Amino acid sequence: DQRREYTLTVSYASNSSSTVLINNQFPGPLIEAELDDILVVHVKNNLLSNEELTIHFHGMLQKQTPHMDGAAYMTQMPISSGKTFTYVFRANPAGTYFYHSHSGLQAVTAFGPLLVHDKQKPWNLPEIPGGPLLFSDQWLTSDRLTQEVGLIGSPFKWEGEPTDLLINGQRNFVMTLRPNTKYLLRLIGATSLSTIVFGIYQHPMTVVEVDGTLIKPKPNVNSLELASGQRYAVIIETKKQSQGVFLMETAIRWRALPANSSCIGVLRYGSISQIPSDLSILPRPTLANETDLLKFSFNNPYETMFSLDKMPTKSSNREYFLLATQDLTSDGLGYRWKINNAVLDMLQLQSVTAPFLFDLYNGNQQDLFKNVTYVVEQNEIVDIVIQNTVALNGVCESHPFHMHGHKFWVHSYGSGMYQKLKPTASISFPVLRDTQTVYATQYAYFTSNRTANNHRLPCGWTKIRMIVDNPGLWMFHCHIGAHSYMDMYILLKEDIAHLTMESLAQH
Ligand code: C2O
Ligand code: CU
Repeated sequence: DQRREYTLTVSYASNSSSTVLINNQFPGPLIEAELDDILVVHVKNNLLSNEELTIHFHGMLQKQTPHMDGAAYMTQMPISSGKTFTYVFRANPAGTYFYHSHSGLQAVTAFGPLLVHDKQKPWNLPEIPGGPLLFSDQWLTSDRLTQEVGLIGSPFKWEGEPTDLLINGQRNFVMTLRPNTKYLLRLIGATSLSTIVFGIYQHPMTVVEVDGTLIKPKPNVNSLELASGQRYAVIIETKKQSQGVFLMETAIRWRALPANSSCIGVLRYGSISQIPSDLSILPRPTLANETDLLKFSFNNPYETMFSLDKMPTKSSNREYFLLATQDLTSDGLGYRWKINNAVLDMLQLQSVTAPFLFDLYNGNQQDLFKNVTYVVEQNEIVDIVIQNTVALNGVCESHPFHMHGHKFWVHSYGSGMYQKLKPTASISFPVLRDTQTVYATQYAYFTSNRTANNHRLPCGWTKIRMIVDNPGLWMFHCHIGAHSYMDMYILLKEDIAHLTMESLAQH
């Protein structure tokens, strides 16, 4: 296995004191490796004096390296200004991933693609030139630091919906391909808030990979939903005609829609194809609406490729029920997203001197994260139910939950309140993934039921199943930047005694 070395320098954009960039690029540079290579990533914090950060390699399993997982104060101390931290970990599993800052809302702009190649892959197709498409949202009307202050402040202040959606940092992204060719196209949901739907006019997609997991090819998908943290690889085939210009469109779903909530891009055949100056004359792709997306998702669209990846159907050894609610802070002015009523006092983080993982490893008591920590044991099959509820403003939001250190199977979904006595899976061939949306199935903004009286009413649930096979301390959280910053996470404490990390012991 080879060592692959990268340096990521994190600094502010030249035109903004709060936009965080990696190597002055947006998106950050591509990190690539072959499966099981050792990635060595030096991260240099060039931000101002009091800004800390960590980097998370989203979807990497980090087996025996939970201290490289980038969860600040939990698995490592944050990298302070002027300092460098080197992440060393195995590139595993193979597939389409990304990395991003795991501090505050820095990841609105501080992210980049991470590809782990496997020689065993079932296709032999060119990647599209320019690499994966990373979708993101941006706010031109407010800056990131102001947003962070507002989110956890008293009073709570919401900076509103994004002003734009971007593809690879651009509002009018142009993808130039050859005619009559099959390509592998990788799609990365790097948004901070938005769940998007994406399609290309007259170019249906064949989905072959979901969050890095190979699936039986699923053809004829005209538009694809990507929540924050989700990835797909799809095959597209260009037509025989030598010239052509086709609209690509990205639009927001599952939020109240701002006026310019869609982003237009262009697929053109060869650089000779003329792009019209007025794109609105081009026909638009048909993008699925929320009803279609929910149906598609609940209808078990993908099927696992390898029998090894099949979900164990015998019942689980343990089930955790996570009630996700939005509530006021004790002063009645701030907002938090709580899980089973737990809140974390952020101010207390300042007194932390060693990451929680090391305290656990060394057998020290630490109370800070106690209320958000859930214990699991090696080789158990664990089910986790996330119960969605209506927020303070009467709206039920959807929440893409991301698991660190594991992939999981989506066992079942439902609307309203989860009922324990109906344990059968509603999905027959669940696919291993690391990010799954807990949908808003009722009381969403598009119903007439929007009233503050609905606060905390159940509005949909998702149950996931996973095998406990990775000793460490792992975050499980809503991937919406604002929500995880407002505490929407738990920690899984997994057999710390089985850790054998030399480097951890020395720390
Ligand atoms: Cu991509 Cu903890 O997140
Ligand atoms: Cu959320």
